[in-house]
Amino acid sequence: MTCGLLQILMISCFHLIYLTCQQEISFVYDNFLGQENLYLDGSATVLPNGLLQLTNASDHQMAHVFYKEPIRLSSSKPLSFSTHFVCALVPQPGVEGGHGMAFVVSPSMDFSHAESTRYLGIFNVSKNGSPSSDVFAVELDTIWNPDFEDINNNHVGIDVHTPLSVGIASASYYSDIKKKNESINLLSGKPIHVWVDYEGNMLNVSMAPLEVQKPSRPLLSQPINLSEIFPNRSRLFVGFSAATGTAISYQYLLSWSFSTKRGSLQLLGISRLPEVPHPRAVHKNLSRRVIVLLGFLAIVGLVVLTGMYIFRRRKYAEVTEAWEKEFGAHRFSYKSLYKATNGFNKDEFLGKGGFGEVYRGALLLSREIAVKRMSHDGDQGVKQFVSEVVSMRCLKHRNLVPLLGYCRRKHELLLVSEYMPNGSLDEHLFDDQKPVLPWPQRLVIVKGIASALCYLHTGADQVVLHRDIKASNIMLDAEFNGRLGDFGMARFHDHGGYAYPTGAVGTIGYMAPEIIDMVASTGTDVYAFGVFMLEVTCGRRPVEPQLQCEKRILIKWVCECWKRDSLLDAIDPRLGDEFLPEEVELVMKLGLLCSNIVPESRPTMEQVVLYLNKSLPLPDVSPYTVGFSSHSSVLIDAASLVASGSWSASSISSSSANNSPFNGLAMVTHIGI
Ligand SMILES: *[C@@H]1O[C@H](CO)[C@@H](O)[C@H](O)[C@H]1NC(C)=O
Ligand SMILES: *[C@@H]1O[C@H](CO)[C@@H](O)[C@H](O)[C@H]1NC(C)=O
Ligand SMILES: *[C@@H]1O[C@H](CO)[C@@H](O)[C@H](O)[C@H]1NC(C)=O
Ligand SMILES: *[C@@H]1O[C@H](CO)[C@@H](O)[C@H](O)[C@H]1NC(C)=O
Ligand SMILES: *[C@@H]1O[C@H](CO)[C@@H](O)[C@H](O)[C@H]1NC(C)=O
Ligand SMILES: *[C@@H]1O[C@H](CO)[C@@H](O)[C@H](O)[C@H]1NC(C)=O
Ligand SMILES: *[C@@H]1O[C@H](CO)[C@@H](O)[C@H](O)[C@H]1NC(C)=O
Repeated sequence: MTCGLLQILMISCFHLIYLTCQQEISFVYDNFLGQENLYLDGSATVLPNGLLQLTNASDHQMAHVFYKEPIRLSSSKPLSFSTHFVCALVPQPGVEGGHGMAFVVSPSMDFSHAESTRYLGIFNVSKNGSPSSDVFAVELDTIWNPDFEDINNNHVGIDVHTPLSVGIASASYYSDIKKKNESINLLSGKPIHVWVDYEGNMLNVSMAPLEVQKPSRPLLSQPINLSEIFPNRSRLFVGFSAATGTAISYQYLLSWSFSTKRGSLQLLGISRLPEVPHPRAVHKNLSRRVIVLLGFLAIVGLVVLTGMYIFRRRKYAEVTEAWEKEFGAHRFSYKSLYKATNGFNKDEFLGKGGFGEVYRGALLLSREIAVKRMSHDGDQGVKQFVSEVVSMRCLKHRNLVPLLGYCRRKHELLLVSEYMPNGSLDEHLFDDQKPVLPWPQRLVIVKGIASALCYLHTGADQVVLHRDIKASNIMLDAEFNGRLGDFGMARFHDHGGYAYPTGAVGTIGYMAPEIIDMVASTGTDVYAFGVFMLEVTCGRRPVEPQLQCEKRILIKWVCECWKRDSLLDAIDPRLGDEFLPEEVELVMKLGLLCSNIVPESRPTMEQVVLYLNKSLPLPDVSPYTVGFSSHSSVLIDAASLVASGSWSASSISSSSANNSPFNGLAMVTHIGI
């Protein structure tokens, strides 16, 4: 009896143990390689990397995977479970993704009667709407089926016997960091966590992106009594189902943990998850071609841009040296000059002066400038030249063309000065098209230049020799004041030391004879100024080879006229009677006085100024004074040179190709006058 009772007790105890043991199911799959405990059907397959592929991108497929061991139900202990899985739904690029997958609880693993597409491999047409089917599912649905009362094409639903969900929510999660709901795109192709917890007739569904922890608030919280859903069932299988229709996706299960006891749910090895393959788009090849093309275009663009950059750098390249730092303020950028002159446009070309071409330009603020481009070779003398330019910039006199600055490039120097709207004096003197320059105006110009020259010789810190005084270097400003310009050959030296043996520079006819001895001085400037005065008065160039012999050389001719006591015969015939004879005679005689062949007999520029404004009477000279013209063999030689055609009457030095402007002086010696 006792034995029998004991036996009964033992049996029931065993039974109890057996039941408890059976009910507790706990497993974890970090990947699905070599897992015998799984039942797979349909298109379900384990990929070599351990990924469980439920469906591939073929249409109308379905797949099931179940844990072979069922959960046994007992009346004594209510059913509960927790599961956590990571899945990924990867759409085929360019094709509508679908239909989705579901976590399934079912008394049977046989779903041969079920259909793919929106039935997700667990329902069939006849069961549609009929509550008799034995299945419970949590669906991740990526197709919007209005007849199933779906809310959208990206939702999570709790299905009991039918595809009509009893609980439904748009795929999202509660972000504990942002304290708000964040939506999840099921078809993003990225792995997604899903948690399903069932306990005490409450079913919670949560989801989150892979990098996010389980949210504190479930997405769905639904009262469910699984005992009611599956009455009279002793065992239930858990697993997954997935299906495609015409809408297709690769649907993967990456890992899965399950336990009938919440506390025993094992953690998933998130870091060890198998890699989800992402299909290449059919048009990827095309886009690759596009990428290659774009890359090619980008490279071409880059090359073009680089080329342009280099070209521009070359175009605007300048030469700067350390010693130029102190002159920085006087230096123009080549680019600004290039722009000011429209790229040294022909339309802006003003003319060719000694050593270079002159262009007009407009700087910002519409300041008009003249830019002279001079080519030079080598660095010889550049430093001196630049420092002189800068010194000249400091010279201020109303009869000087204001020099604004310079620019230096390889083989090129640019001088920037103010633009003189009325051009150079020689145009007005010798151009028959232009109106005759009246005598008073000529006198004003002569006086102005005398004053400027006087300033250069005595008024500035240093003695400045212009060295190329002639009508074509006298510019006329808007008020027709004469302004001495073209300092291209100017030289500086300290007061006191006059001899300046750098060689001869200047223009034939204006050059004092002693220039041949390579000595420039204030006296040589006075000589040239004397010739210039005669030029202005007589309206002709100092040497005109085409004239008859006696008139050919201006100084000689004026002297001849004077000797004949008819000085006014030499006057510019275009002036007619519109002049004061005393003034004309004064200027002519002063011109001869200045161009005396004996340097010591010439007046200084200070004296010239006084003579011109009649503060000082002209010394009593006669045309027979020693040193006056007729003795000038130099001029005769020069004239014969001009006549023989080996010279144009232009600046000698300008024809010196191999010499820079500032030492182009060797020239004269070569000629061997
Ligand atoms: C999908 O898998 C089936 C076999 O299960 C195969 O016949 C089909 O070609 C596969 N489709 C694609 C797109 O890989
Ligand atoms: C639907 O499934 C049931 C079993 O649950 C089966 O008896 C029925 O024949 C199926 N209907 C269709 C149309 O497949
Ligand atoms: C379900 O969620 C609710 C609300 O967050 C919570 O109170 C309950 O304990 C959860 N139940 C399960 C089984 O996780
Ligand atoms: C977040 O989503 C849950 C579940 O869908 C919903 O109950 C809740 O109202 C939402 N909260 C906000 C702030 O939208
Ligand atoms: C769940 O259903 C079973 C069977 O119908 C019932 O015995 C049980 O009381 C129900 N549980 C709750 C909490 O309603
Ligand atoms: C001189 O220049 C001014 C200003 O540009 C102009 O108005 C005037 O007509 C010019 N005179 C001659 C004679 O060209
Ligand atoms: C002539 O010029 C000198 C020097 O500039 C000056 O001192 C003098 O006053 C001027 N004389 C006349 C009459 O203009």
